Amino acid sequence: MKLKSIPTRGRTLDHAASVYDTLEPVLLLGKQAEYDRRLLSLLNPVISDRVLDLGCGTGVLTRVIGDKLDAGAGGESVGIDAAARMIAVARKKRASETCRFEIMAAEGLAFDDATFDAVVSSLFFHHVQIDLKQKALAEAYRVLKPGGRLVIADMHIPTTWMGALVSHVSRWFFMQPQIGENIRGVLPEVIAAAGFVYPEIVATYFGYISVFNTRKPKA
Ligand SMILES: C[S@@+](CC[C@H](N)C(=O)[O-])C[C@H]1O[C@@H](n2cnc3c(N)ncnc32)[C@H](O)[C@@H]1O
Repeated sequence: MKLKSIPTRGRTLDHAASVYDTLEPVLLLGKQAEYDRRLLSLLNPVISDRVLDLGCGTGVLTRVIGDKLDAGAGGESVGIDAAARMIAVARKKRASETCRFEIMAAEGLAFDDATFDAVVSSLFFHHVQIDLKQKALAEAYRVLKPGGRLVIADMHIPTTWMGALVSHVSRWFFMQPQIGENIRGVLPEVIAAAGFVYPEIVATYFGYISVFNTRKPKA
């Protein structure tokens, strides 16, 4: 049965699904494993956690997280992406007892309120414009339990001249104004405006990716 992508104004990557696993390690300059381990250590899941990965692509990070969980204890890592072909690759290569993938838009999550212990997202927010960034964060807030963790790694204000070059070339080469929003630094304010504790930048990669760590307040 042919899977159908979810209509969204976000920039989905159906067209890149077959080559994404070859390209991403190059884009992350061979540091993908270290990068994923860092996101995992920030999430610091316990075996019974339910973790949601927004814009999961082919699901590498979703699976890294899933491998730390125990299905018997209720642990589950769920990756969502609006692009059906990305999800098809993820299901084929990375589904496991503790890791599943759903075709879903981040701005319209089909999950009940307060059902996840943590939400993570890597390189998704520069694919959606400001109103969808806001909606996706409102949805992340809704599905997180009080006190739940949010870790976002994405393009932000560049920290090196090389990072600035990569950011600005990407913005114009891919004709992606959503990247322009990120490099102007909108993410922390948008995250806080959704109700999260003001995020802390806990790592930077390659001068153009910042890792934000925050949580939904307990009450
Ligand atoms: C650059 S990829 C990142 C994939 C993966 N998280 C990673 O770090 O490699 C961005 C992903 O966001 C997805 N995407 C774009 N708009 C979306 C939306 N509104 N909802 C869910 N996924 C979306 C794209 O299809 C793509 O797979």
